[in-house]
Amino acid sequence: MLPADTSYYLQLGSKSVLSMSRLKCALRTFDLRVLLILLIGVPILLFAIYVHGQKVTYFLRPIWEKPPKPFKVLPHYYHENVSMANLCKLHGWRVRETPRRVFDAVLFSNELDILDIRWHELSPYVSEFVLLESNSTFTGIRKDLHFRENRQRFGFAESRLTYGTIGGRFVKGENPFVEESYQRVALDQLIKIAGIADDDLLIMSDVDEIPSGHTVNLLRWCDDVPEVLHLQLRNYLYSFEFLLDDRSWRASVHRYRAGRTRYAHFRQTDDLLADSGWHCSFCFRRIDDFVFKMKAYSHVDRIRFGYFLNPRRIQHVICEGADLFDMLPEEYTFQEIIAKLGPIPSTFSAVHLPAYLLEHNERYRYLLPGNCVRESG
Ligand SMILES: *[C@@H]1O[C@H](CO)[C@@H](O)[C@H](O)[C@H]1NC(C)=O
Ligand SMILES: *[C@@H]1O[C@H](CO)[C@@H](O)[C@H](O)[C@H]1NC(C)=O
Repeated sequence: MLPADTSYYLQLGSKSVLSMSRLKCALRTFDLRVLLILLIGVPILLFAIYVHGQKVTYFLRPIWEKPPKPFKVLPHYYHENVSMANLCKLHGWRVRETPRRVFDAVLFSNELDILDIRWHELSPYVSEFVLLESNSTFTGIRKDLHFRENRQRFGFAESRLTYGTIGGRFVKGENPFVEESYQRVALDQLIKIAGIADDDLLIMSDVDEIPSGHTVNLLRWCDDVPEVLHLQLRNYLYSFEFLLDDRSWRASVHRYRAGRTRYAHFRQTDDLLADSGWHCSFCFRRIDDFVFKMKAYSHVDRIRFGYFLNPRRIQHVICEGADLFDMLPEEYTFQEIIAKLGPIPSTFSAVHLPAYLLEHNERYRYLLPGNCVRESG
C-alpha cells in the first residue's frame, strides 16, 4: 500500500509533466537548435581538440613553462683578412705558438651528405674524426650501418678516422633517451681510443650541427678560451633556403679533461659564442629519409597521425617551409609564438654557407635556395 499522500504527489507530478510538454512546444525551435548543436557541434569540437590539442597546449606554454636562463652570448669577430693574433685579441684571448689538436666526434645515423659537407668544412682544422654508428635508432628501430657501407666516399678523412659500431639493445617501449645516452657513453670510449689528451679541443654536436671552420680555427689558436663553450648556430630547416632563427645552441666545444669531460648534448655552461656555424635540420635528399628520420626521431610521439608520413604531404610541407609535425613554434612568450606562426619565409641569401656545399653545388643542389623538390623513394 502506498501512503495516502503519495497519490497527491503523483497527481502533482503528472500536472507538471503536462506543463512541461507545453513548454517544450513553445521552445520547439530552440530545442532543435540545442539538439543540432549537441549532435554536430560537440563532435566537431571534440575532433578539433583531438587534432589540435597539442597546439592548444603549445600555445599556452608561456603560462605553464618559464623560459630557460638566458645564455651569456660572447661576441664573435671574424674576417678572413684579419690576422689570428688580432682575432684572438678581439675576443680577449692570447694567440698560441701552436694550435691545439681538434677532435670532432659524432653519433651517426644516415646523414651521409651532411657528413660530407661537415667533414670538408672542418677538415683543415681537425686532427681526428671520431664516428660511432649503431644498428639501432634511438627509438629502437633496426637500421643499416650506412657509414660502413659508404666508407669509401670519405677517403679524404680515412687516415684521421676512428670508427666504431655498437649493437642496439632493442628494448621495446623504452624512452628513446635511454638508447641515446647509451650510445653517447660508447662514444666517450671511442674518443679515448682515438687518443685524446688534456687540453685537446673536442667538438660535441650532432652531425647536422656544423661549426664553421674559422670558428674551430679560432678556438684552437687562442689561449684562455672557456673550458666549455656552446656554439650559437643558424637554424635552418630542410635546406639553406629556410632560415628559422639563430637560436641553435646544443653544439659545444670542450678543452678536454680526462675523467671530467663527458660527451653530452644538453646545456653544460652559460657561455655561447655567437654566429658559429649552421644547424640544418631535416636536410635530406630523399623523401624516404624524411620518413625514416620522423620515425627514428626521439620525439616519435609527434607522429600523431599516419598521414603525416605520406610522401606527397611531406614534399608539400618541405616546399612550403611548414612544419612536418603540424606543431606550433616552441617559444616561451606569446609574442614570439605569434611572430613565428605559419611557414618559414624563404631566404635568398646563400652567402657564408659551407664552402664545400657551394663548390659542389651540382651534387647538393637540393640544399640551396629555390630547390625544394626532393627525390622520391
Ligand atoms: C686582404 O686580402 C687581399 C686579397 O687576398 C690581400 O691582397 C691583402 O693583402 C689582404 N690584407 C691583409 C691585411 O691581410
Ligand atoms: C646489431 O649489432 C649487434 C652487434 O654487432 C648484433 O649482435 C645484432 O645481431 C645486431 N642486431 C640486428 C637486429 O641487426
